[in-house]
Amino acid sequence: MSDTTVDFSPAAAPLAEKLLEQAREIIARYPAGRERSALLPLLHLVQTVEGHVSPDGVAFCAEVLGINKAQVGAVATFYTMYKRRPTGEYLVSVCTNTLCNMLGGQEIYDGLTEHLGVGHDETTADGKITLEHAECLAACDYAPVVTVNYDFTIDQATPEAAVGMVEKLRSGERPVPNRGARVCSLKEMQLQLAGFADERDGAVADGPAGAPTLRGVTLAQQHGVAVPNFNIDTPITTTRPARDESAKAVKDPAPAGAPAAKSEGKIASVAKKAAEAVKTAAAAVVDKAEHVVEHRKAGAPVQAGDVKDPEVRTAEVRNPDASTPTPNPAKIDAAQAGPAGNAPAGDGKPAGDGKRGTKEKK
Ligand code: FES
Repeated sequence: MSDTTVDFSPAAAPLAEKLLEQAREIIARYPAGRERSALLPLLHLVQTVEGHVSPDGVAFCAEVLGINKAQVGAVATFYTMYKRRPTGEYLVSVCTNTLCNMLGGQEIYDGLTEHLGVGHDETTADGKITLEHAECLAACDYAPVVTVNYDFTIDQATPEAAVGMVEKLRSGERPVPNRGARVCSLKEMQLQLAGFADERDGAVADGPAGAPTLRGVTLAQQHGVAVPNFNIDTPITTTRPARDESAKAVKDPAPAGAPAAKSEGKIASVAKKAAEAVKTAAAAVVDKAEHVVEHRKAGAPVQAGDVKDPEVRTAEVRNPDASTPTPNPAKIDAAQAGPAGNAPAGDGKPAGDGKRGTKEKK
């Protein structure tokens, strides 16, 4: 903010009236000359009022920071946490990334789509729920997971649990999440994301790590796996170990059975074997090259390697006796060829979304 007497445009003025004091507080967190770094929390602040970032919200951020609207728009449209159209009171995110998907994330998403009658980034007619696919929500240990307004709400979710939860939200209840803070509204969450304390009772919660998170540690303990000489109080240094020392460890592994350096000895031994394997492979390549050169010198024909077109090779592997006739391009229905053969994504949903309210047929 260039000064404290900004004249806001008619578009930005209503938000300025509500948010200017908090906006100034946010901007004051940043060093002089770096005020524009406050843009991210300012966009969240705008969402506390609007639930999304409207053109008026963009104008407010631009004017309060003294930058142009294109600069604000570039940021607001880059991050998925800034919504470009009105959202519901609760943003329900279903992780459909790799691990959650393997464990049923897509089924949960499909169940909610069918139950609510909305697709990705769409809001129910009562304005309560906005549904979205989400990429990894950083809780793979509890996969598949569903969050409400970015708080973990259902761990190891099922379609039934997800539908039950959204029904409670729609009926005005705030269901108790599996862990973490109690469910809040999306606008309340935006205030926290803008960097302000949420004073509600139980708005912030913490607790010990759960069993799925600790699974690796538990298994290591059960099987007696430990990092030698590990000391949790060892300060993290920014310098790397000297290169020659690690090289020395590979070159001169500790004598077998030396108790303190047993693991280091194992690592060195594996590294030594790997180095020998690389050396052997390199020698084989040199041998072959020399062989080819000798043949050329002697005038012998050089046997060509596999120079087939990869597509031809793939086709042969799939259909070695060429028993499947090749389709005649002239007979392919024009309507099925090219882009016309691909159903349009329509509402911008990610590929793989079925038609809303229906299940995809396999
Ligand atoms: S893949 Fe879903 S939380 Fe990581």
